Amino acid sequence: MTTPVTLMAGDGIGPQVSEAAVRVVEAAGAKVEWDRQLAGMAAIERGLGPLPDETFDSICANKVALKGPLTTPVGEGFRSINVALRKMFDLYANVRPAKSLVPGGRYSDIDLVVIRENTEGLYVGVEHFIGMEKDPQAAAESVMIVTRFGAERIVRFAFDYAVAHQRRKVTLVHKANILKCTQTLFLDAGRKVATEYEGRIEFEDRIVDNTAMLLVVDPYQFDIIVTENMFGDILSDEAAGLIGGLGLAPGANIGKDAAIFEAVHGSAPDIAGQGIANPSALILAACMLLEHIDQSEVAARIRDALLAALRGDVRTRDLGGKATTQEYTDRIIEELK
Ligand code: NAI
Ligand code: MG
Repeated sequence: MTTPVTLMAGDGIGPQVSEAAVRVVEAAGAKVEWDRQLAGMAAIERGLGPLPDETFDSICANKVALKGPLTTPVGEGFRSINVALRKMFDLYANVRPAKSLVPGGRYSDIDLVVIRENTEGLYVGVEHFIGMEKDPQAAAESVMIVTRFGAERIVRFAFDYAVAHQRRKVTLVHKANILKCTQTLFLDAGRKVATEYEGRIEFEDRIVDNTAMLLVVDPYQFDIIVTENMFGDILSDEAAGLIGGLGLAPGANIGKDAAIFEAVHGSAPDIAGQGIANPSALILAACMLLEHIDQSEVAARIRDALLAALRGDVRTRDLGGKATTQEYTDRIIEELK
């Protein structure tokens, strides 16, 4: 039985890293059938909207998708399609594992997971400028929205993930010392959920700025971090930095009815079209996808091959090597057993 999977190649380096992921997944013998769809700039260039109906329908039908990075114009232009997809499909949990793969980095043996609330907080897009006298943009305000429902469900997701993946501890990260309503609600909701897992999974809470520092000073104390949208966005990039950069960091956006897997990194316009992007993050995202559709055995073989390739001498430039995207991908395929 093959599983249909929506594939959005993405913008910038997206098409290259997506092609690499498709090649590796196929070479490993995964039972997936790609349903290729347009999104982002690629769709706009063909005279469509950034998220065409056909793409939306495909994700609705398949319920699982692999997505390359999509460019979001800064300031002017459409709002982020990534944010739109998360909202439309209520992909409330963003799971970003940070696990050391390459020896010789600043840290070794990092193994933590950032679980970010993906639909609320400051990213709900409730914001506007406020005009004063002659300046139409004299001030601006953004509203942070936290609901008890949203907070409880993300913290519960984090604990369930911890149980399912045999992890030991959940750290809830917040800023309740300053944001007395939104963050206190998040913290209280989390504490309540934590009591259901007492004796099974350890629980602690930490303030976000302190967490950012501790992640650099002693990252090993963390296991699973659960936090609201913007804090999670920032801390997960920091965590990616601990393991050698964005080229190695995968992510999953998971909801009740659908899941979209992607790299943490963006479309990297500075290196787009040069054939030097590191496809590892998207390949690892594809592994998370395969686990999600019960093809864990294939995922494990791909991970082993990727590790073997990384430990050899074929590395992309972001990891200090000289290999092109294609040479590195070829190497992973050679290593597949
Ligand atoms: P970025 O992640 O695209 O790039 C940051 C830096 O990391 C750049 O120097 C880039 O060359 C490098 N880099 C990223 N991925 C790499 C890879 N696979 N291999 C080698 N080097 C890599 O972040 P940036 O520049 O802030 O954003 C560019 C565009 O991507 C923006 O339009 C942004 O909105 C979008 N973006 C999309 C995301 C998504 O689709 N989920 C996530 C983050 C950003
Ligand atoms: Mg981000």
